[in-house]
Amino acid sequence: MNPSFRRHQRDWEDLGDLDPCWAILAFPERRFGRWDLDEFFRSGEEEIARLGADMERLGYPARRARALDFGCGVGRLTRALAAHFQHCDGVDVSAPMIAAARKLNAAFLNCDFLLNGHPDLRIFPSDHFDLIYSVLVLQHLPTRAAIVAYVADFARVLAPGGLLVCQIPSRIPLRRRLQPRRRLYGILRGLGVGPHVLYHRLGLFPMRMTALTEGEVRDLLTAAGARVLEARPDAMASTAIESRTYYVTKPERGR
Ligand SMILES: C[S@@+](CC[C@H](N)C(=O)[O-])C[C@H]1O[C@@H](n2cnc3c(N)ncnc32)[C@H](O)[C@@H]1O
Repeated sequence: MNPSFRRHQRDWEDLGDLDPCWAILAFPERRFGRWDLDEFFRSGEEEIARLGADMERLGYPARRARALDFGCGVGRLTRALAAHFQHCDGVDVSAPMIAAARKLNAAFLNCDFLLNGHPDLRIFPSDHFDLIYSVLVLQHLPTRAAIVAYVADFARVLAPGGLLVCQIPSRIPLRRRLQPRRRLYGILRGLGVGPHVLYHRLGLFPMRMTALTEGEVRDLLTAAGARVLEARPDAMASTAIESRTYYVTKPERGR
């Protein structure tokens, strides 16, 4: 495996062990295990209720059999999607996240949680999912090339007439790109310092931020045979990061 991808996977394994809910929704007041689980999962239900309204307005997806929550974490959004689709797959690169998702969502019988350590979606056939949903994930990938590879594969596994909804930052200010705490975490972790010491004693964590411009994402999706329905700016006001959520379909054959 490519060493940068393996480090990325190790970082999310660490975060999944250390403070999974905060690593997913990084509100400062919720750090060090201070998320209330009911409130955490309610935030997922509210988000997917908004997605439900978007699906009605856009008229996609054409069918509601299979959904993919890419970068599912502990299943905050997967379990909410379960009310809208016959079957939902949550996929994540981090074994502790997947273990927690399975435990916390055992009652959601139409959800499966799968560990995927590949830099693409080769575990799924083409034209498979009616919905692919991915927020707060692609931004954390180690390189722009890694984002490109997953987004191109989203277009492959999306069913014709399906809906892909994915969020990607479009611009990260230089100040946020330096990420000194992540860099120091990587150096000390490489020297053998344990994740608990780095996180709890030194206040370091390994989350990174990567962006693709809206033009790059549109070109990529078009080249992969998909059609962008909307690119909506996200409200990330307090962070000065600019981000877009893309609503994308793949034309049905002959249309
Ligand atoms: C900030 S969390 C967001 C989780 C979820 N999307 C949500 O909003 O509740 C990012 C998640 O993406 C996962 N992730 C990071 N890189 C990934 C990859 N290459 N493939 C799949 N999951 C990945 C992390 O392990 C983590 O669970």
